[in-house]
Amino acid sequence: MQIDPKNYPIAVLGTGTMGEGIAQTAATAGHPVMLYDVSQEQTRAALENIAKRLDRSTKKRKITAEKKDQIQANLSPKQSLKELAPAKLVIEAIIEDLEIKQNVFCQLESLLGADAILATNTSSIDLNKMGSTLKRPERLVGMHFFNPVPVMKLVEVIKGNETSEETTAATIALSEQMGKIPVTANDFAGFVSNRVLMPMINEAFHAWADGVAEPEAIDSIMKLGCAFPMGPLRLADYIGLDVCRDIMKVMYEGLDQNPKYLPSEKIVALVDAGHLGDKTGQGVYKHEKG
Ligand code: CAA
Repeated sequence: MQIDPKNYPIAVLGTGTMGEGIAQTAATAGHPVMLYDVSQEQTRAALENIAKRLDRSTKKRKITAEKKDQIQANLSPKQSLKELAPAKLVIEAIIEDLEIKQNVFCQLESLLGADAILATNTSSIDLNKMGSTLKRPERLVGMHFFNPVPVMKLVEVIKGNETSEETTAATIALSEQMGKIPVTANDFAGFVSNRVLMPMINEAFHAWADGVAEPEAIDSIMKLGCAFPMGPLRLADYIGLDVCRDIMKVMYEGLDQNPKYLPSEKIVALVDAGHLGDKTGQGVYKHEKG
């Protein structure tokens, strides 16, 4: 499938960490990108963060000043869902709540062209349930990006039971056009990435709780011994401890309530105390802002 990015507008819904990274990646690949979030403040902050990163890349001579201007010109903030109507692909990266996602997708379905693709960046929620309220569930697909999106190569492409071959093929082509490597998986809770990653992170918390080693030692062992760029506890802070807990819960519910997917008491206690990781400045570790 040949894609001319200039004529393939993309809407990114939700401008938190993931939406921000997805928007930057799509704009860098040449797509006009519309950004929408219920909080306009959040969208402004996302655009500022992207501008700062592009400035850094220009100073490091990774991109030219002209390329930076092109990328920024491709990004346009929007104030309402209605303004996303021209999008041929919508990538949703909003709160991990099934009902809210269903509601937004139903609204989008009536606004967008009949062949527009509805993609969700959900990290674990059941795509079949998400599509159950749609008139055209064959256009719904999972497009699971990884943080930091401009750096991480993978897009986990999730096929729901109703996702058409055409939608999957277009999503693979679009991911490649955005400079990513798409790999497809079927619709099981946690898909492949979190099914494998989260129990490993959870086990690191159990090891800490059991006194096997302190967090720094656990992370050093996994970094130096298994060549991970970050140890599992550091990565949990980076992802967000609330996100890790919620993904574990989704897997517990979605995979026959197997107790091996219950979040560790350490994660739950930290989340309950408001220590969510990098974003709150405290998680397993203390973090300096920025
Ligand atoms: N956005 C854009 N670029 C970023 C970035 C960000 N948030 N953070 C770092 N980078 C870029 C830097 O600019 C730098 O780029 P250049 O080489 O072009 O200068 C490059 O990444 C390396 O950064 P640093 O030198 O600052 O730091 P590092 O070498 O330690 O790498 C890291 C940082 C890329 C985050 C690395 O530690 C890493 O890969 N960590 C693991 C990340 C991971 O596992 N992510 C998946 C999480 S799971 C998930 O997202 C899905 C889910 O469902 C939960």
